[in-house]
Amino acid sequence: MNFEKSDELRKKSHACIPGGAHTYSKGDDQFPKLSPGFICKGEGAYVWDVDGNKFIDWGMGLRSTTLGHGYKRVVDAVLEQISFGANFTRPSHLEVEFAELLVNIIPCADMVKFAKNGSTVTTAAVKLSRAYTGRDLVAICADHAFYSYDDWFIGSTVMDAGVPQAIKDLTVKFNYNDIESVENLFKKYPNEISCVILEPATEIEPKNNFLNKLRSLCDAYGVVLIFDEMITGFRWHIKGAQYVYNVFPDLATYGKGIANGFSVGVLAGKKDIMNLGGINGTDHERVFLISTTHGAENHSLAAAIASLRELQEKNVPKYLAKIGASLRKELNDIHKKYDLDSLLHVYGVDCRLALSVNATDMYDMFQVKTYFLQELIGRGILFSGYFSPSFSHTIEHVKKTVEAWDYACLQLKYSLDKKNLEDKLVGPCVKPVFRKYN
Ligand SMILES: Cc1ncc(COP(=O)(O)O)c(C=O)c1O
Repeated sequence: MNFEKSDELRKKSHACIPGGAHTYSKGDDQFPKLSPGFICKGEGAYVWDVDGNKFIDWGMGLRSTTLGHGYKRVVDAVLEQISFGANFTRPSHLEVEFAELLVNIIPCADMVKFAKNGSTVTTAAVKLSRAYTGRDLVAICADHAFYSYDDWFIGSTVMDAGVPQAIKDLTVKFNYNDIESVENLFKKYPNEISCVILEPATEIEPKNNFLNKLRSLCDAYGVVLIFDEMITGFRWHIKGAQYVYNVFPDLATYGKGIANGFSVGVLAGKKDIMNLGGINGTDHERVFLISTTHGAENHSLAAAIASLRELQEKNVPKYLAKIGASLRKELNDIHKKYDLDSLLHVYGVDCRLALSVNATDMYDMFQVKTYFLQELIGRGILFSGYFSPSFSHTIEHVKKTVEAWDYACLQLKYSLDKKNLEDKLVGPCVKPVFRKYN
């Protein structure tokens, strides 16, 4: 596979864009050198890079594209709306249509507020919680990867340069499925914790009634419970993970798959909290909630409405789980076949799978992972460590992925046996996004 044009663009991009891309997880340090640097077209489950190479895409725009690239119903809705104008002086009627749709679908939603991305709505949830409780501390689940690029979260990571200590001191951490770690925080900081924020589930699901116990603890201590449903929303079930686990937060946040790749984030929640950001009611101080010029851009709302209707009418979440279940079984069978199952394992919830990679005696996990990705990508599978099945992925795409996976496992097996993985690996290893130095 030839990546000449990608390589040229890489040089240019790093000269004019810090990181060479506008999202860290799309960056060059997340993929092997022998990979597509830049994509120019997508259709269904496929993407084409600038050199004309074709790939089955399992990342789907950082999990934003649940229906598939260039999905007709969404594209048609966007084109129609865009010809009427992108942004007006007063809100579009679409704002009400989309809000009512969401309030009818999301169990915890009495009201909703829109934004352009997930970070804005999680930050808004934190701000509302602080205003509602009059408390400053935020309790975050330490085992979940990302909530926002804002300081309250980034200050809690190793990449905390530029975040004042005073802000860092306001974020405390607990562990998933460890209710004692939450209770300990509540006792250590009495009447100081405004909210608890976590994904209701990731690749790891709640155990021992964790979410129910969390709900009860939050009620007992007067803490706002926030579920970040950026990934689980409309994927676990059309009504989200809160519906599946039958535990309902005070506030919930959505983004990613809500508009099939278009830029829409949603804060949803209970009326008494959400209303603090309203323009009626005189019994409380006003909260400057979310207010941006492009907050409810018309064609993104049209995309979101069309996407949600399609997800609902076609029961897309059920389909995603079917594709994932088939992937998980077939790929783990290959690991066993090559005796690589102590190194590679596909795990998670069927609609949200990830690959765990271990080190060997000779090679660290980044070397193993980078080499494996290199071989897989070389066979036309665009994969960086997680699977985001979409409605456009079919069993045929699973079959092609299985063939490429088998090849990559065979190559990995050879290079481990011959102890020449370093010679066969082209370019530097992939690195974690969150690291102190480059
Ligand atoms: C669980 C979760 N919450 C929030 C965010 C932030 O969303 P955005 O990147 O749209 O700001 C992400 C993004 O990866 C996420 O995965």
